[in-house]
Amino acid sequence: MAMNNKTKKTILLNLIFLLVCGGVFLFLWNAPPETTAFIPHDEKHERFFTMEKKEAEKFCESCHNPDGEAPLPPDHPPKYRCLFCHKRTK
Ligand code: HEC
Ligand code: HEC
Repeated sequence: MAMNNKTKKTILLNLIFLLVCGGVFLFLWNAPPETTAFIPHDEKHERFFTMEKKEAEKFCESCHNPDGEAPLPPDHPPKYRCLFCHKRTK
């Protein structure tokens, strides 16, 4: 079976496409499970479960600041928008 160059190129491009899809799929499949701490259900946090997210986030740093009652760990990731990472489910 003789293939002209155009056909070969098309087959090659399709193979590359499949490999890229496979790579993306594996990457997502292997992504670590969500382990970031949920915000606790206690008297300090209960009111944030019913509050609008952006509204609630204004209060977090009144306690979670370096001199507050619950400072963030020193290796804490960038803390913009607390509730994107610390979910309220559970
Ligand atoms: C009134 C003070 C106060 C406010 C306001 C507050 N926290 Fe806390 N937070 C604490 C204290 C104290 C702890 C540690 C003891 C505990 O679990 O209650 C804590 C613990 C946590 C934890 C760790 C839970 C765990 O499993 O270790 C997370 C996450 C958290 N807070 C997120 C938040 C977020 C997000 C907000 C804003 C929506 C917030 N906190 C507002 C006082 C506060
Ligand atoms: C980009 C994601 C992200 C954002 C945004 C974020 N955090 Fe965290 N936070 C983490 C990770 C990851 C950890 C460490 C792992 C864990 O929670 O178990 C952590 C840890 C904490 C802890 C200690 C939990 C423990 O078990 O000791 C507290 C308290 C906390 N964060 C509060 C906050 C507050 C308050 C904000 C907003 C000012 C915030 N975080 C924003 C990802 C985030």
